[in-house]
Amino acid sequence: VLSPDEAERAVLLAAPRGYCAGVDRAVITVEKALETYGAPVYVRKQIVHNKHVVQTLSDRGAVFVEELDEVPAGQTVVFSAHGVSPQVHADAAERGLKTIDATCPLVTKVHHEAKRFAADDYDILLIGHEGHEEVEGTSGEAPERIQLVQGPDDVENIVVRDPDKVAWLSQTTLSVDETLETVEAIRVRFPNLLDPPSDDICYATQNRQLAVKEISADADLVIVVGSGNSSNSVRLVEVALEAGAKASYRVDDASEMREEWLEGVDRVAVTSGASVPEDLVEGVLALLAERGYPDARAVQSAEESLIFALPPELRRDMRTAA
Ligand code: F3S
Repeated sequence: VLSPDEAERAVLLAAPRGYCAGVDRAVITVEKALETYGAPVYVRKQIVHNKHVVQTLSDRGAVFVEELDEVPAGQTVVFSAHGVSPQVHADAAERGLKTIDATCPLVTKVHHEAKRFAADDYDILLIGHEGHEEVEGTSGEAPERIQLVQGPDDVENIVVRDPDKVAWLSQTTLSVDETLETVEAIRVRFPNLLDPPSDDICYATQNRQLAVKEISADADLVIVVGSGNSSNSVRLVEVALEAGAKASYRVDDASEMREEWLEGVDRVAVTSGASVPEDLVEGVLALLAERGYPDARAVQSAEESLIFALPPELRRDMRTAA
């Protein structure tokens, strides 16, 4: 017989959550590179922003470096899912490094848009977070034409050459609602603002935000599994709180769950960022079960079936090695 407390308890699990097509491809790229070329395989920056993924790949022989000068001459280096600027490609070529580009195709799409707007002589406002690797890579496509806008507060300080030739782009992992606000503020200043040809915030970011909204409204607690440097994971906490969750915390794994978060909490919702392996979510669900919560109920708000082919340069070498 359940106590009244237990009867009211529920665990809701957002769907979709976890790996997106770009992360899946990037992680498999490193795994296949290790199989094909043997360890070590160098990776510039974290392949995806998740410390467990990075640790697992390190254990298998991947060597993560910050910059190319840490890669010995003649070695193979993988570029991360967040993309790199053309300068990084040029530096790698100059050093004679073999490169495999695991940039998510949806980030590459934004690079193409940046190049096109720059070629048409637009000033480009890139909405994103300063210092994020994706922003550095995209900005590098046209450094003299692109300026960063971090939010509506930045809009009054924008300086452009011609107010009628301004376009905007964004990082792929932003909050959809906040980005709309920023774009509206920009459009008030520049009514002829040119939009990107299609959404820059990717399908996975959008779907995970919608899914967490759906389970947050009457949740006492929303747990987001994801690393602190994962932009889309951090956004999920913000979206959960805006959608009405009483509290929301981000954890890398179950070990970061605090007992006091569960005090007086009946309804727990759980989701994970686009770079998070499912076993980390399962760990959180197991901890909740140990504390007397019922089995999780998935709440599906969208279906995802996108898969990206591995980088062609890797596929070619895999065929040769076979
Ligand atoms: Fe790509 Fe979006 Fe994932 S840009 S890496 S599909 S979060």
